[in-house]
Amino acid sequence: MAQRIMVTGCNGYVGCILCRELITRGFEVVGLDNRLFPSNFDVPGYSYESEGVEYRIKDIRDLTEADFEGIDILVHLAGLSNDPIGEINDRVTRKINVYATVEMVSLAKRAGVKKLVFSSSCSVYGFSPMESPTFFDELSPKNPVSTYAESKLVCEGALRNLVDANFQVYMLRNATVYGPSPRMRFDLLINAMVASSFFHKNITFYSSPLVKRPLININDLCRTFIHFIENDMESDTYNIGRTLDNYSISDIAVLVCRAFYERQGVDIALRYKIDDADPRSYLVSFAKLQPHIEGVITHDVYESIGDLIDLFTQNFSQEDTEIFLQKTSFYSIQHLLRRIEIGEIDNEFRVIG
Ligand SMILES: NC(=O)c1ccc[n+]([C@@H]2O[C@H](COP(=O)([O-])OP(=O)(O)OC[C@H]3O[C@@H](n4cnc5c(N)ncnc54)[C@H](O)[C@@H]3O)[C@@H](O)[C@H]2O)c1
Repeated sequence: MAQRIMVTGCNGYVGCILCRELITRGFEVVGLDNRLFPSNFDVPGYSYESEGVEYRIKDIRDLTEADFEGIDILVHLAGLSNDPIGEINDRVTRKINVYATVEMVSLAKRAGVKKLVFSSSCSVYGFSPMESPTFFDELSPKNPVSTYAESKLVCEGALRNLVDANFQVYMLRNATVYGPSPRMRFDLLINAMVASSFFHKNITFYSSPLVKRPLININDLCRTFIHFIENDMESDTYNIGRTLDNYSISDIAVLVCRAFYERQGVDIALRYKIDDADPRSYLVSFAKLQPHIEGVITHDVYESIGDLIDLFTQNFSQEDTEIFLQKTSFYSIQHLLRRIEIGEIDNEFRVIG
Protein backbone atom coordinates (compact mmCIF):
# COMPACT_ATOMS: atom_id res chain seq x y z
CA MET A 1 0.00 0.00 0.00
CA ALA A 2 1.26 3.49 -0.86
CA GLN A 3 2.55 5.50 2.07
CA ARG A 4 0.47 8.52 3.01
CA ILE A 5 2.51 11.68 3.43
CA MET A 6 1.41 15.02 4.82
CA VAL A 7 3.33 18.01 3.44
CA THR A 8 2.85 21.25 5.39
CA GLY A 9 3.68 24.37 3.38
CA CYS A 10 2.50 22.49 0.25
CA ASN A 11 1.67 25.73 -1.59
CA GLY A 12 5.03 27.34 -0.91
CA TYR A 13 8.05 27.65 -3.22
CA VAL A 14 9.45 24.21 -2.30
CA GLY A 15 6.12 22.56 -1.38
CA CYS A 16 4.57 22.90 -4.87
CA ILE A 17 7.49 21.05 -6.46
CA LEU A 18 7.80 18.46 -3.68
CA CYS A 19 4.10 17.51 -3.85
CA ARG A 20 4.28 17.10 -7.64
CA GLU A 21 7.34 14.86 -7.32
CA LEU A 22 5.77 12.76 -4.53
CA ILE A 23 2.66 12.13 -6.63
CA THR A 24 4.85 11.11 -9.58
CA ARG A 25 6.59 8.59 -7.31
CA GLY A 26 3.26 7.00 -6.31
CA PHE A 27 2.83 8.38 -2.78
CA GLU A 28 -0.54 9.46 -1.37
CA VAL A 29 -0.15 13.13 -0.54
CA VAL A 30 -2.10 15.38 1.84
CA GLY A 31 -1.03 19.00 1.43
CA LEU A 32 -1.65 21.50 4.21
CA ASP A 33 -1.12 25.24 3.96
CA ASN A 34 -2.76 28.49 5.10
CA ARG A 35 -1.95 30.01 1.70
CA LEU A 36 -0.03 33.15 2.58
CA PHE A 37 1.17 33.29 -1.05
CA PRO A 38 -0.64 32.80 -4.36
CA SER A 39 0.27 30.98 -7.53
CA ASN A 40 2.38 33.62 -9.27
CA PHE A 41 4.49 32.06 -12.03
CA ASP A 42 2.27 31.72 -15.04
CA VAL A 43 4.41 29.31 -17.03
CA PRO A 44 3.26 26.07 -18.69
CA GLY A 45 4.12 23.03 -16.58
CA TYR A 46 4.17 24.93 -13.28
CA SER A 47 0.94 24.42 -11.39
CA TYR A 48 0.21 25.52 -7.84
CA GLU A 49 -1.92 22.44 -7.25
CA SER A 50 -0.93 18.98 -8.44
CA GLU A 51 -3.55 16.48 -9.48
CA GLY A 52 -3.91 13.75 -6.87
CA VAL A 53 -2.93 15.84 -3.85
CA GLU A 54 -5.61 16.21 -1.15
CA TYR A 55 -5.35 19.92 -0.23
CA ARG A 56 -6.35 21.21 3.20
CA ILE A 57 -6.33 24.97 3.74
CA LYS A 58 -5.44 25.22 7.40
CA ASP A 59 -3.08 26.92 9.81
CA ILE A 60 -0.62 24.64 11.59
CA ARG A 61 -1.64 26.36 14.84
CA ASP A 62 -5.15 24.90 14.53
CA LEU A 63 -4.38 21.21 14.07
CA THR A 64 -5.54 18.37 16.30
CA GLU A 65 -4.56 14.71 16.53
CA ALA A 66 -7.40 13.86 14.15
CA ASP A 67 -5.64 15.76 11.33
CA PHE A 68 -2.93 13.09 11.33
CA GLU A 69 -5.19 10.06 11.16
CA GLY A 70 -3.82 7.64 8.56
CA ILE A 71 -0.65 9.69 7.94
CA ASP A 72 2.62 7.69 7.88
CA ILE A 73 5.15 10.47 7.31
CA LEU A 74 5.09 14.21 8.02
CA VAL A 75 7.18 16.60 5.91
CA HIS A 76 7.19 19.99 7.59
CA LEU A 77 7.95 22.95 5.33
CA ALA A 78 5.37 25.46 6.62
CA GLY A 79 6.49 28.53 8.49
CA LEU A 80 7.91 31.99 8.14
CA SER A 81 10.61 31.16 5.70
CA ASN A 82 13.31 33.79 5.57
CA ASP A 83 15.29 36.22 7.69
CA PRO A 84 13.49 39.50 6.83
CA ILE A 85 9.99 38.03 7.44
CA GLY A 86 11.19 36.59 10.71
CA GLU A 87 12.00 40.10 11.95
CA ILE A 88 8.52 41.58 11.25
CA ASN A 89 7.39 40.21 14.59
CA ASP A 90 9.89 38.00 16.38
CA ARG A 91 7.26 36.77 18.86
CA VAL A 92 5.01 35.48 16.05
CA THR A 93 8.01 33.96 14.27
CA ARG A 94 8.82 31.91 17.37
CA LYS A 95 5.15 31.04 17.82
CA ILE A 96 4.84 29.56 14.31
CA ASN A 97 8.35 28.27 13.65
CA VAL A 98 9.00 26.84 17.11
CA TYR A 99 6.04 26.43 19.47
CA ALA A 100 3.36 25.54 16.89
CA THR A 101 5.82 23.29 15.06
CA VAL A 102 6.80 21.32 18.17
CA GLU A 103 3.15 21.07 19.28
CA MET A 104 2.13 19.89 15.80
CA VAL A 105 4.86 17.24 15.64
CA SER A 106 3.93 15.98 19.12
CA LEU A 107 0.32 15.59 17.97
CA ALA A 108 1.47 13.78 14.84
CA LYS A 109 3.63 11.39 16.86
CA ARG A 110 0.76 10.66 19.25
CA ALA A 111 -1.50 9.99 16.25
CA GLY A 112 0.89 7.31 14.99
CA VAL A 113 3.01 9.16 12.41
CA LYS A 114 6.31 7.26 12.14
CA LYS A 115 8.69 9.75 10.54
CA LEU A 116 9.29 13.51 10.44
CA VAL A 117 11.28 15.32 7.75
CA PHE A 118 11.86 18.88 9.00
CA SER A 119 13.03 21.64 6.69
CA SER A 120 15.70 23.53 8.61
CA SER A 121 18.34 25.84 7.16
CA CYS A 122 22.10 26.27 6.81
CA SER A 123 21.50 29.81 8.04
CA VAL A 124 21.86 28.39 11.59
CA TYR A 125 25.65 28.68 10.96
CA GLY A 126 25.29 32.42 10.47
CA PHE A 127 28.67 33.89 9.93
CA SER A 128 32.30 32.93 9.57
CA PRO A 129 34.93 35.68 9.22
CA MET A 130 35.88 36.20 5.56
CA GLU A 131 39.59 36.22 6.37
CA SER A 132 39.42 32.70 7.88
CA PRO A 133 36.49 30.91 6.25
CA THR A 134 35.83 27.41 7.52
CA PHE A 135 33.44 24.80 6.19
CA PHE A 136 30.74 24.26 8.79
CA ASP A 137 29.65 20.70 9.39
CA GLU A 138 26.69 19.56 11.47
CA LEU A 139 28.70 19.73 14.72
CA SER A 140 30.30 23.14 14.11
CA PRO A 141 29.39 25.99 16.46
CA LYS A 142 26.14 27.68 15.46
CA ASN A 143 25.80 31.42 15.18
CA PRO A 144 22.26 32.29 14.08
CA VAL A 145 22.17 35.99 13.26
CA SER A 146 18.39 36.35 12.83
CA THR A 147 15.18 35.35 14.61
CA TYR A 148 14.44 33.04 11.66
CA ALA A 149 17.75 31.17 11.93
CA GLU A 150 17.46 31.00 15.71
CA SER A 151 13.91 29.61 15.39
CA LYS A 152 15.22 26.77 13.18
CA LEU A 153 17.99 25.93 15.64
CA VAL A 154 15.76 25.99 18.73
CA CYS A 155 13.18 23.89 16.91
CA GLU A 156 15.78 21.28 15.93
CA GLY A 157 16.71 20.93 19.61
CA ALA A 158 13.11 20.37 20.66
CA LEU A 159 12.36 17.94 17.83
CA ARG A 160 15.44 15.86 18.66
CA ASN A 161 13.83 15.09 22.03
CA LEU A 162 10.89 13.42 20.27
CA VAL A 163 13.06 10.73 18.62
CA ASP A 164 12.42 7.18 19.85
CA ALA A 165 12.21 3.65 18.47
CA ASN A 166 8.85 4.44 16.84
CA PHE A 167 9.54 7.96 15.60
CA GLN A 168 12.36 8.94 13.24
CA VAL A 169 13.29 12.61 12.91
CA TYR A 170 15.43 14.09 10.14
CA MET A 171 16.41 17.73 10.52
CA LEU A 172 17.55 18.87 7.09
CA ARG A 173 19.57 22.07 6.96
CA ASN A 174 19.02 23.23 3.40
CA ALA A 175 21.43 25.30 1.37
CA THR A 176 19.89 28.34 -0.37
CA VAL A 177 17.48 27.05 -3.00
CA TYR A 178 17.17 28.22 -6.62
CA GLY A 179 15.12 27.33 -9.69
CA PRO A 180 11.56 27.83 -10.91
CA SER A 181 8.39 27.02 -8.95
CA PRO A 182 4.68 27.87 -9.35
CA ARG A 183 5.06 29.97 -6.17
CA MET A 184 8.12 31.75 -7.43
CA ARG A 185 10.44 33.59 -5.08
CA PHE A 186 12.75 36.32 -6.35
CA ASP A 187 14.09 37.01 -2.88
CA LEU A 188 16.47 34.06 -3.32
CA LEU A 189 19.98 34.69 -4.59
CA ILE A 190 20.14 33.09 -8.06
CA ASN A 191 16.46 33.65 -8.87
CA ALA A 192 16.84 37.35 -7.98
CA MET A 193 20.01 37.81 -10.05
CA VAL A 194 18.51 36.16 -13.13
CA ALA A 195 15.27 38.21 -12.91
CA SER A 196 17.15 41.47 -12.41
CA SER A 197 19.49 40.65 -15.31
CA PHE A 198 16.64 39.68 -17.60
CA PHE A 199 14.47 42.73 -16.93
CA HIS A 200 16.98 45.42 -15.96
CA LYS A 201 20.26 44.19 -17.46
CA ASN A 202 21.95 44.67 -14.13
CA ILE A 203 22.75 42.95 -10.84
CA THR A 204 22.88 44.94 -7.60
CA PHE A 205 25.03 43.85 -4.67
CA TYR A 206 23.38 44.69 -1.34
CA SER A 207 26.05 42.94 0.70
CA SER A 208 29.75 42.35 0.14
CA PRO A 209 30.41 40.37 -3.08
CA LEU A 210 32.71 38.18 -0.96
CA VAL A 211 29.86 36.82 1.16
CA LYS A 212 29.64 33.02 0.84
CA ARG A 213 26.62 30.76 0.50
CA PRO A 214 25.93 27.11 -0.40
CA LEU A 215 23.30 26.57 -3.11
CA ILE A 216 20.95 23.79 -4.16
CA ASN A 217 18.62 23.34 -7.12
CA ILE A 218 14.96 23.05 -6.10
CA ASN A 219 14.50 19.70 -7.88
CA ASP A 220 17.61 18.27 -6.21
CA LEU A 221 16.36 19.48 -2.83
CA CYS A 222 13.00 17.74 -3.34
CA ARG A 223 14.67 14.52 -4.48
CA THR A 224 16.89 14.61 -1.38
CA PHE A 225 13.82 15.05 0.85
CA ILE A 226 12.27 12.04 -0.89
CA HIS A 227 15.44 10.06 -0.26
CA PHE A 228 14.86 10.60 3.48
CA ILE A 229 11.21 9.64 3.05
CA GLU A 230 12.04 6.41 1.23
CA ASN A 231 15.05 5.30 3.28
CA ASP A 232 15.64 4.58 6.93
CA MET A 233 18.52 6.84 7.79
CA GLU A 234 19.71 7.55 11.32
CA SER A 235 17.55 10.15 13.08
CA ASP A 236 19.84 13.15 12.99
CA THR A 237 20.70 16.54 11.51
CA TYR A 238 22.02 16.67 7.93
CA ASN A 239 23.29 19.57 5.84
CA ILE A 240 21.52 19.38 2.46
CA GLY A 241 23.57 20.33 -0.57
CA ARG A 242 26.98 19.61 -2.14
CA THR A 243 30.28 20.96 -0.88
CA LEU A 244 31.25 21.92 -4.45
CA ASP A 245 28.20 24.21 -4.61
CA ASN A 246 29.53 26.76 -2.10
CA TYR A 247 29.90 30.09 -3.89
CA SER A 248 30.61 33.73 -3.13
CA ILE A 249 27.99 36.24 -4.26
CA SER A 250 30.47 37.56 -6.84
CA ASP A 251 31.09 34.00 -8.19
CA ILE A 252 27.35 33.68 -8.80
CA ALA A 253 27.09 37.13 -10.40
CA VAL A 254 29.93 36.20 -12.77
CA LEU A 255 28.14 32.97 -13.75
CA VAL A 256 24.89 34.87 -14.40
CA CYS A 257 26.72 37.52 -16.49
CA ARG A 258 28.56 34.82 -18.46
CA ALA A 259 25.35 32.89 -19.14
CA PHE A 260 23.55 36.01 -20.42
CA TYR A 261 26.51 36.92 -22.59
CA GLU A 262 26.91 33.43 -24.06
CA ARG A 263 23.20 32.86 -24.69
CA GLN A 264 22.04 36.32 -25.70
CA GLY A 265 25.14 38.42 -26.29
CA VAL A 266 23.87 40.72 -23.52
CA ASP A 267 26.16 42.60 -21.12
CA ILE A 268 24.92 42.74 -17.54
CA ALA A 269 26.06 45.71 -15.43
CA LEU A 270 27.11 45.31 -11.81
CA ARG A 271 25.91 47.85 -9.25
CA TYR A 272 26.69 48.31 -5.58
CA LYS A 273 24.24 49.49 -2.90
CA ILE A 274 25.88 47.74 -0.01
CA ASP A 275 23.93 48.16 3.24
CA ASP A 276 25.18 44.97 4.93
CA ALA A 277 21.67 44.45 6.30
CA ASP A 278 22.20 40.71 5.85
CA PRO A 279 25.36 39.73 7.73
CA ARG A 280 25.19 36.01 6.84
CA SER A 281 28.20 34.40 5.22
CA TYR A 282 29.02 30.73 5.53
CA LEU A 283 30.66 27.83 3.73
CA VAL A 284 29.12 24.44 4.48
CA SER A 285 30.42 20.88 4.34
CA PHE A 286 27.98 18.27 3.06
CA ALA A 287 30.36 15.35 3.63
CA LYS A 288 28.00 13.60 6.06
CA LEU A 289 25.17 13.48 3.50
CA GLN A 290 27.26 12.70 0.43
CA PRO A 291 27.74 8.91 0.81
CA HIS A 292 23.98 8.43 1.25
CA ILE A 293 22.77 10.32 -1.80
CA GLU A 294 24.95 9.20 -4.68
CA GLY A 295 23.36 10.52 -7.90
CA VAL A 296 20.52 12.40 -6.17
CA ILE A 297 21.93 15.93 -6.39
CA THR A 298 22.89 16.39 -10.02
CA HIS A 299 22.21 19.95 -11.17
CA ASP A 300 25.13 22.16 -12.11
CA VAL A 301 24.70 25.79 -11.01
CA TYR A 302 25.85 27.31 -14.30
CA GLU A 303 23.62 25.05 -16.40
CA SER A 304 20.66 25.71 -14.11
CA ILE A 305 21.18 29.47 -14.51
CA GLY A 306 21.03 28.87 -18.29
CA ASP A 307 17.79 26.90 -17.87
CA LEU A 308 16.25 29.77 -15.90
CA ILE A 309 17.29 32.28 -18.58
CA ASP A 310 15.71 30.06 -21.25
CA LEU A 311 12.50 29.78 -19.23
CA PHE A 312 12.32 33.56 -18.89
CA THR A 313 13.09 34.11 -22.55
CA GLN A 314 10.42 31.63 -23.68
CA ASN A 315 7.68 33.00 -21.41
CA PHE A 316 8.23 36.72 -20.79
CA SER A 317 8.92 39.70 -22.98
CA GLN A 318 10.59 42.95 -21.98
CA GLU A 319 7.11 44.51 -22.10
CA ASP A 320 6.14 42.27 -19.18
CA THR A 321 8.64 44.04 -16.93
CA GLU A 322 6.19 46.29 -15.09
CA ILE A 323 3.47 43.66 -14.65
CA PHE A 324 6.03 41.08 -13.70
CA LEU A 325 8.03 43.03 -11.16
CA GLN A 326 4.97 44.63 -9.54
CA LYS A 327 3.84 41.23 -8.33
CA THR A 328 4.74 41.55 -4.67
CA SER A 329 4.22 37.82 -4.18
CA PHE A 330 7.66 37.25 -5.69
CA TYR A 331 9.11 38.90 -2.58
CA SER A 332 7.82 37.20 0.57
CA ILE A 333 8.25 40.16 2.92
CA GLN A 334 6.65 42.72 0.60
CA HIS A 335 3.73 40.39 -0.04
CA LEU A 336 3.04 39.74 3.64
CA LEU A 337 3.33 43.41 4.63
CA ARG A 338 0.93 44.32 1.81
CA ARG A 339 -1.61 41.69 2.90
CA ILE A 340 -1.40 42.90 6.50
CA GLU A 341 -1.88 46.52 5.31
CA ILE A 342 -5.03 45.68 3.36
CA GLY A 343 -6.42 43.51 6.16
CA GLU A 344 -6.14 40.10 4.51
CA ILE A 345 -3.70 38.85 7.15
CA ASP A 346 -3.74 39.86 10.83
CA ASN A 347 -0.76 40.72 12.99
CA GLU A 348 -0.43 37.09 14.07
CA PHE A 349 -0.02 36.13 10.36
CA ARG A 350 -3.41 34.47 10.30
CA VAL A 351 -5.26 34.61 7.01
CA ILE A 352 -8.57 36.41 7.60
CA GLY A 353 -11.79 34.99 6.17
N1 LIG B 1 13.83 28.44 -0.07
C1 LIG B 1 15.00 28.34 0.53
O1 LIG B 1 16.05 28.78 0.02
C2 LIG B 1 15.10 27.65 1.87
C3 LIG B 1 16.39 27.45 2.42
C4 LIG B 1 16.49 26.84 3.67
C5 LIG B 1 15.35 26.44 4.34
N2 LIG B 1 14.12 26.64 3.78
C6 LIG B 1 12.93 26.21 4.54
O2 LIG B 1 12.14 25.35 3.72
C7 LIG B 1 10.76 25.55 3.99
C8 LIG B 1 10.02 25.91 2.70
O3 LIG B 1 10.58 27.11 2.17
P1 LIG B 1 9.91 27.87 0.94
O4 LIG B 1 10.99 28.57 0.23
O5 LIG B 1 9.02 26.95 0.22
O6 LIG B 1 9.04 28.96 1.72
P2 LIG B 1 7.60 29.57 1.34
O7 LIG B 1 7.45 30.79 2.18
O8 LIG B 1 7.46 29.69 -0.12
O9 LIG B 1 6.60 28.43 1.85
C9 LIG B 1 6.17 28.33 3.18
C10 LIG B 1 4.72 27.92 3.14
O10 LIG B 1 4.26 27.77 4.49
C11 LIG B 1 2.96 28.31 4.57
N3 LIG B 1 2.73 28.71 5.96
C12 LIG B 1 3.35 29.70 6.66
N4 LIG B 1 2.85 29.78 7.90
C13 LIG B 1 1.90 28.81 8.00
C14 LIG B 1 1.02 28.42 9.03
N5 LIG B 1 1.00 29.03 10.23
N6 LIG B 1 0.15 27.39 8.81
C15 LIG B 1 0.13 26.77 7.59
N7 LIG B 1 0.95 27.11 6.57
C16 LIG B 1 1.82 28.13 6.77
C17 LIG B 1 2.94 29.48 3.61
O11 LIG B 1 1.62 29.80 3.19
C18 LIG B 1 3.82 28.97 2.48
O12 LIG B 1 3.03 28.36 1.47
C19 LIG B 1 10.67 26.65 5.04
O13 LIG B 1 10.56 26.03 6.30
C20 LIG B 1 12.01 27.35 4.92
O14 LIG B 1 12.39 27.95 6.15
C21 LIG B 1 13.97 27.24 2.57
